[in-house]
Amino acid sequence: MTKLMSQDELKTLVGQAALQYVVAGEIVGVGTGSTVNKFIDALATIKSTIKGAVSSSVASTERLKALGIPVFDANDVTELAVYIDGADEIDQAGYMVKGGGAALTREKIVAALSKQFVCIADESKLVNALGAFPLPVEVIPMATKRVMQQFTAMGGSCSVRQKDGQPLVTDNGQHIVDVLNLKIADPLAFESTVNQWPGVVTVGVFAHQKASVCLLGTESGVKTLKF
Ligand code: 5RP
Repeated sequence: MTKLMSQDELKTLVGQAALQYVVAGEIVGVGTGSTVNKFIDALATIKSTIKGAVSSSVASTERLKALGIPVFDANDVTELAVYIDGADEIDQAGYMVKGGGAALTREKIVAALSKQFVCIADESKLVNALGAFPLPVEVIPMATKRVMQQFTAMGGSCSVRQKDGQPLVTDNGQHIVDVLNLKIADPLAFESTVNQWPGVVTVGVFAHQKASVCLLGTESGVKTLKF
């Protein structure tokens, strides 16, 4: 009888596969989330070969440091060879929705510093069109109502992400609005439009910082998609 791999095992598989993109002697960009945690654990096994990491969240920084991997400030580097991160959705062009872990803004900053974005994901994340996953948007709290009105006018259905009965506060001290029912037909245009709304810190569409490669965990092994 064939034993199906769990989502956790698929995440471990791609987390380990991402090591092949890590450049010896350099600083690696590190994303956030359960898939990236597998990558961080794998990275720890080769930590003596790298200079360290630039991290996209407090959570990843803590995990990296706990495993003895030096963490550099993004302002200490000019460019990174590679950024490794997960996604909530990735389409056939490498456009992504991210921010399920509320780290989207820092993720976009580290991605923008990097020559290559390697997305690691289990196959459930591959979609034909972005928009089924509730789109995370980091918003300055004062602008929440107006931003939600703008999404509602586009047909979206909004909620402010909660933690312990209160609005979740991001690493940047802001809130997250999650938006359902959006049609994101043109991710580049959509990202540019929403990012210009006053009070939006960043939208979770990664089109201008799309993936260059996706390591997709499947039942038959890791598939490499290049964009
Ligand atoms: C965090 C992210 C994550 O990359 C995304 O939510 C995927 O997470 P996971 O690997 O846990 O499924 O964007 O802000």
